[in-house]
Amino acid sequence: MHHLQCILQAQRCLGWGPLASVSWLLLRTCRAHSSFSGTSCPRPEGQQENGVQKDFSSRLATGPTFQHFLRSASVPQEKLSSLDVVDPPPYLTVDELLGRQRKVYLETYGCQMNVNDTEIVWSILQKNGYLRTNNLQEADVILLVTCSIREKAEQTIWSRLHQLKALKKKRLRSRVPLKIGILGCMAERLKEEILHREKMVDILAGPDAYRDLPRLLAFAESGQQAANVLLSLDETYADVMPVQTSPSATSAFVSIMRGCDNMCSYCIVPFTRGRERSRPVASILEEVRKLSEQVLQLIHERDNICKQIHLPAQSGSSRVLEAMRRGYSREAYVELIHHIRESIPGVSLSSDFIAGFCGETEEDHLQTVSLLQEVQYNMGFLFAYSMRQKTRAYHRLKDDVLEEVKLRRLEELITVFREEATKANKISMGCTQLVLVEGLSKRSATDLCGRNDGNLKVIFPDVEMEDVTNSGLRVRAQPGDYVLVKITSTSSQTLRGHVLCRTTLKDSAAYCSPE
Ligand code: 5AD
Repeated sequence: MHHLQCILQAQRCLGWGPLASVSWLLLRTCRAHSSFSGTSCPRPEGQQENGVQKDFSSRLATGPTFQHFLRSASVPQEKLSSLDVVDPPPYLTVDELLGRQRKVYLETYGCQMNVNDTEIVWSILQKNGYLRTNNLQEADVILLVTCSIREKAEQTIWSRLHQLKALKKKRLRSRVPLKIGILGCMAERLKEEILHREKMVDILAGPDAYRDLPRLLAFAESGQQAANVLLSLDETYADVMPVQTSPSATSAFVSIMRGCDNMCSYCIVPFTRGRERSRPVASILEEVRKLSEQVLQLIHERDNICKQIHLPAQSGSSRVLEAMRRGYSREAYVELIHHIRESIPGVSLSSDFIAGFCGETEEDHLQTVSLLQEVQYNMGFLFAYSMRQKTRAYHRLKDDVLEEVKLRRLEELITVFREEATKANKISMGCTQLVLVEGLSKRSATDLCGRNDGNLKVIFPDVEMEDVTNSGLRVRAQPGDYVLVKITSTSSQTLRGHVLCRTTLKDSAAYCSPE
């Protein structure tokens, strides 16, 4: 029989603002029959031998200090490529910390933060050798990422626990015992109450204890209940790159902070998620960079996403870019363009430019001209600068480029842009391109207009054509249809051609073949 004995360390964080009312709890589990010494049962230094509660101040004196909390803080670390296994505590071997291909089923309740937490949990477990399953029946470990925001949210989880209990009972007889874990806000709020009330729960981990999951799971393996509901002042999981859990998700969330200090009079969040803390900017940027990489990758590999990127440069002069507070230099911009072109060969690029911004010299203007030549955009949106009230430029800078100079520079930019776009678009001449039909051409009722894979306008006569999926059938293209158009003339803005047939994305992996 395994008897749960919880050694409770509570520390009231005196003087730490709102946290003064948050109790910090660290539950550790031991077998009743095992002695507290030895390696089978960990015990922080200074913990009482017999588990009898001393008075609060002596417990405070022997409990963890502020540094103990900082020590487990997330210092951005080197990304660990394979198994992210930290040094095991003395009572566990590295092997015991590993998932050894055990299958984890994760279920998320509540808010967007919990979706993000699920991604963090999965990232940690994946690096520790666990596998993921979406099939409850084949799971070795079931983890519920829980919500406490309203009573109803908790009731839902209690009922789910009862269902899982039945599953676990059945499982005991047939194979490896199923482990059930309660993670997140409900674990934090109810702490040992869950363990006592639900003997079927093996693991309890609060929102700041996910790094400890491999250890908690290793404990649970030996039939013990294991819990860590310690809140942290600075855990942001900055170095844990979340793994997007749903491959069909249409959006990704980048979490920039955890916890809440607002203490709205009705809200449990400051007590379940702890003190407000921001993620280091570098780690946010790194995650966004990775997401952007994934977007480029997707644009590259999916035929149903057109290969066009709008990257507003505004100016080719680093000096002007700084005055505009754009946050990048010409060099950084050009480097990004090269990276995009390498990632998506044949990508079509467009940009916005402002002529005659405050303090723009002739030399700055020439830099913009040279950027237009260097990048050779397919589409461009060019404007003369007009001072807008309330802006920083309005308050701090002088609109000192004469109107006629602005307009002359704008004309020059437009001319250069057109020359370059004409050159860039010429390569489509003679090609057969896949075009998504949009509707009638604005200029002529006998022409249709559509977009090629670079989002360039393609105009072609509205005539009957063959339908490749129904041979023999003659059709007229409708908005939303894909057609193949042979390009016969090009300009800086549009392509023209004649339509060959109606097709589908599948039938015509986007191609361009000079015939
Ligand atoms: N003057 C001229 N152009 C401007 N833009 C934005 N503000 C101004 C302004 N005050 C242009 C930029 C931006 C586009 C939407 O409009 O190029 O990318």
